[in-house]
Amino acid sequence: MRPIQMVDLQQQHQKIQQHLDEAIARVIQSGKYINGPEVAEFSHNLSQYLNVPHVIPCANGTDALQIAMMALNLKPGDEVLLPAFTYVATAEVIKLLGLTPILVDVNEDDFLIDVTQIESAITQNTRAIVPVHLFGQSANMDAIMQIAKKHNLFVIEDTAQAIGAKYTFDNGTVLCAGTIGDVGCTSFFPSKNLGCLGDGGALFTRNEQLAKRLKMIANHGQSIQYQHDDIGVNSRLDTIQAAILNVKLQSLTDCEIARNQVAQKYDEAFANHTNFEIPTRVKNSTHVFHQYTLKCKGINRDELRKFLADKQIPTMVYYPIPLHAQKAYQSDKYPLGKLPVTERLCSKVISLPMSPEVTNDQIEYIIGHINEFCK
Ligand SMILES: Cc1ncc(COP(=O)(O)O)c(C=O)c1O
Repeated sequence: MRPIQMVDLQQQHQKIQQHLDEAIARVIQSGKYINGPEVAEFSHNLSQYLNVPHVIPCANGTDALQIAMMALNLKPGDEVLLPAFTYVATAEVIKLLGLTPILVDVNEDDFLIDVTQIESAITQNTRAIVPVHLFGQSANMDAIMQIAKKHNLFVIEDTAQAIGAKYTFDNGTVLCAGTIGDVGCTSFFPSKNLGCLGDGGALFTRNEQLAKRLKMIANHGQSIQYQHDDIGVNSRLDTIQAAILNVKLQSLTDCEIARNQVAQKYDEAFANHTNFEIPTRVKNSTHVFHQYTLKCKGINRDELRKFLADKQIPTMVYYPIPLHAQKAYQSDKYPLGKLPVTERLCSKVISLPMSPEVTNDQIEYIIGHINEFCK
């Protein structure tokens, strides 16, 4: 059996190594390392894949969120709603721009923003909602879009973990996560479902005017060379990464199917287990299983992790400390106890190895040792 990894990138790349090597060699030979033709080609390919008219590549997912908020003219003092249970980047850019993060608790079963708590968090200063499509499935976009419309708020989707997930609205319309709100933001960090061999990110929008602004902000605030109409940032997707992503995008759908097969096997093992709750599938979204995350019951999670680590089984905790308990984000507004679901989840979630490359014998080995611990 191959050594188990949380995400087996070497194995993933071995399968397409020749195509990656050729793509990289072409860029090296072309000499066009910044904004080479592969960047526009990738924008086009991804816009077709996600069925969204505008894809603006940038340097990483954190930049994508920042560019979105700058392009929408959010100003210091403006309040931005986000789920309390998320990766720090979502909150980080809000603070960095002098905006005020307003944390909303999440659902205990699917880890996504609890839409029943959004309206009570809205004030006259609220300007935007940032739903995070955590672990691979879309937040409740029917409710979020309705609330945003009613209160005249921007919707900035953080789809770093859910590229390719499809959301079916109650009226039957199907759209990809990240292409529903005003702007979607994603990451091509190597371990993401669509990952490059370094850092990368992108923004999506259906709004042509906004697409122009996003492009301008990502390019030093200039629409014409050396003419700076606004304060921007320098955030580009390297040509070499775009070339790699063009290769990897071709197998994204197959990877999604393989991830679901791994999840299915984990589900079968843990669905009726006394010590675990399996991740709930939400009604309106497909799941692309960026993570397979269990909730532990009646066992010590950290002892389980140590037991598994001794058997060379890696696990991760996404996320061990709630945002409002992090030193950099503590505030009187959010004393411990204020966001109880997030706090509980941080103490009981465990993510198992998940990638299209996890083999059946690895899955059996993982399940066998988890059951051995729980005996
Ligand atoms: C939910 C979420 N948002 C934003 C990001 C930031 O992406 P990047 O690491 O490319 O800056 C990540 C990446 O880990 C993420 O998981």
